[in-house]
Amino acid sequence: MGKDLTKVNNTIFICNGGSCKKQAAEDNVRELRCALKMAGLHETTHTIKTLCMGQCENAPVMFVESSNTWYKKMTLDTIDALVSLQVNPDISLQSNELFKRGWERMQPAKVLTPKTSGEFQWQDDPSLGRIKAIQIYPWEFNIYPLLKECFTQRWEGLSLFTKAYGVVEGKFLVEYQQGKAFIHHPAKDISLEIIMKADRESKEFPNKISGIKLFHTEGEKQLGLHFSNPKDGVILKVYWEKGNGLWEHLVNNYAKISS
Ligand code: FES
Repeated sequence: MGKDLTKVNNTIFICNGGSCKKQAAEDNVRELRCALKMAGLHETTHTIKTLCMGQCENAPVMFVESSNTWYKKMTLDTIDALVSLQVNPDISLQSNELFKRGWERMQPAKVLTPKTSGEFQWQDDPSLGRIKAIQIYPWEFNIYPLLKECFTQRWEGLSLFTKAYGVVEGKFLVEYQQGKAFIHHPAKDISLEIIMKADRESKEFPNKISGIKLFHTEGEKQLGLHFSNPKDGVILKVYWEKGNGLWEHLVNNYAKISS
């Protein structure tokens, strides 16, 4: 039977996304639940394991709902202090605080600065010639919106290139199911399955996205996105002529490039 929620006055979210797991987040869950039980807080504190909470540079991350506080770099050593803090506000865990509601600034473990246009690198592309490209983070919550933006919102003038189908133009549909994106071209009966999970270690899926690049050709006539995996290189390329507003949208929302 589930916990009696009428008794719960606090919920702790523990990130168990890829980056946090790499830094022993699962051990943190076990230790936290154990510490809550030993402190007699088990019935009043609910714990929830989550997927990526979008603060990977601060992994492993937790969020305590009752105090509206985010914690960074949590380890087995800091779990006991976190639990004690729930009953004794004099306990300090300041060095692990990432953000509290009301703060004007976060205290991240690592400061990520926006990319600049100077970080675009020249490279040769077999089908587009010389291009200038910049990497975007290939997290699942980036890949699906990117595909959806391209294929369903702003599809006019897009070309798609895959090794299997070559260059294909026209309107596509994008569906999402359990970590996979399915791209369909109903008129041409083309179906492409993209694995979006950010687990870069696993090489077993040929269509697993592990890298995304934003690129433009010389003179910026053509703009586009590369989706690649470690085994097969570029598996999906989307490009278009300048002028449909998609580039500005991607730069502002996914690459955050300042000039
Ligand atoms: S995996 Fe935990 S914040 Fe991203």
